[in-house]
Amino acid sequence: MANAQERVFSGVQPTGNLHLGNYLGAIKRFVELQDRFDCLYCVVDLHAITVWQDPAELKRSIREVAAAFLAAGVDGEKHIVFNQSQVPQHAELAWVFNCVARLGWLNRMTQFKEKAGKDRENASVGLYAYPNLMAADILAYRATHVPVGEDQKQHLELARDIAQKFNNDFAASIAEHGLAEKFFPLPEPLIAGPATRVMSLRDGSKKMSKSEPSDASRINLTDDADQIAQKIRKAKTDPLPLPEAVEGLKDRPEADNLVGIYAALADSDPAGVLAEHGGSQFSQFKQALVDLTVAKLSPITAEMKRLVADPGHIDRTLGRGAERAEAIASETMGDVKDILGFVRRT
Ligand code: AMP
Ligand code: TRP
Repeated sequence: MANAQERVFSGVQPTGNLHLGNYLGAIKRFVELQDRFDCLYCVVDLHAITVWQDPAELKRSIREVAAAFLAAGVDGEKHIVFNQSQVPQHAELAWVFNCVARLGWLNRMTQFKEKAGKDRENASVGLYAYPNLMAADILAYRATHVPVGEDQKQHLELARDIAQKFNNDFAASIAEHGLAEKFFPLPEPLIAGPATRVMSLRDGSKKMSKSEPSDASRINLTDDADQIAQKIRKAKTDPLPLPEAVEGLKDRPEADNLVGIYAALADSDPAGVLAEHGGSQFSQFKQALVDLTVAKLSPITAEMKRLVADPGHIDRTLGRGAERAEAIASETMGDVKDILGFVRRT
């Protein structure tokens, strides 16, 4: 049984185009952790609106991400699946963390710099403060482990800094209320395996992303077998055959990426893949990769389709999940109010 003290939390933004990077870097790992931990998996819609979202598209996308969790094998009965906006404590705790985190800390966040681009003055305040909301997501449940892709590492470090500063700043009040000294645990990132950073199929130096204009750069979780085959066959490669050993993948970003994808899908590692395919031409290896990708993704794609066709069912799952999540988060938030010195309704 899961250790009562340990809890997993992770989130995925409902911003369209769920792709193979999201699956291998995050959702597949969510499924694997269910045997070892109590898990909360959240569709982070409050994060999505840090940049413009079309309302009808957002609603469709929230249900699609929930469907992807369930179709991939997340158990919404044993664990908790919900969308963030249904649990008000996320936004409430995020405000507290806006007052704990320092401007200097947020100024270092590379994702904000990338997303805001040159026109920083015109980025939303929410986009800037987003890592504080992410810390609130995790710490509202006092989660100890957070499975994410490599790109979230810096945000996780910020969440740890916030937890630590809160514990230190309010140590006296925490003790006075008879609460554990480490009121917030320092959440540990779980970033491991061969696909923590899946790269674009068109450019091995760029990560596979939802927002890249070229659809050929990514495999979407809604792509059918033909689309998957076409995209993998057209994927950029170099002219050499696959190396025999992993050292040979150095300075060959496209080869490294395809081998990493294969390894993750096959529950293997790059050395294992090269033991089988080292020396092959890409034409051959790509065909094996097409077969494997289609075999692994098509059952998930089909189940997602079935689930999104019944939005009522998804909405009920999310609603029940939100109720259970709120029961945990409201307890944390009550303690936080006591710690801060707020007067509470009696
Ligand atoms: P997002 O789409 O930004 O909400 O990301 C959802 C999850 O997928 C996060 O844990 C990300 O770190 C992960 N992720 C996004 N893109 C990739 C990628 N190209 N490779 C691996 N993981 C990714
Ligand atoms: N920021 C994450 C992303 O863009 C999504 C996210 C929001 C998240 N809150 C989280 C991930 C809490 C892990 C834990 O991918």
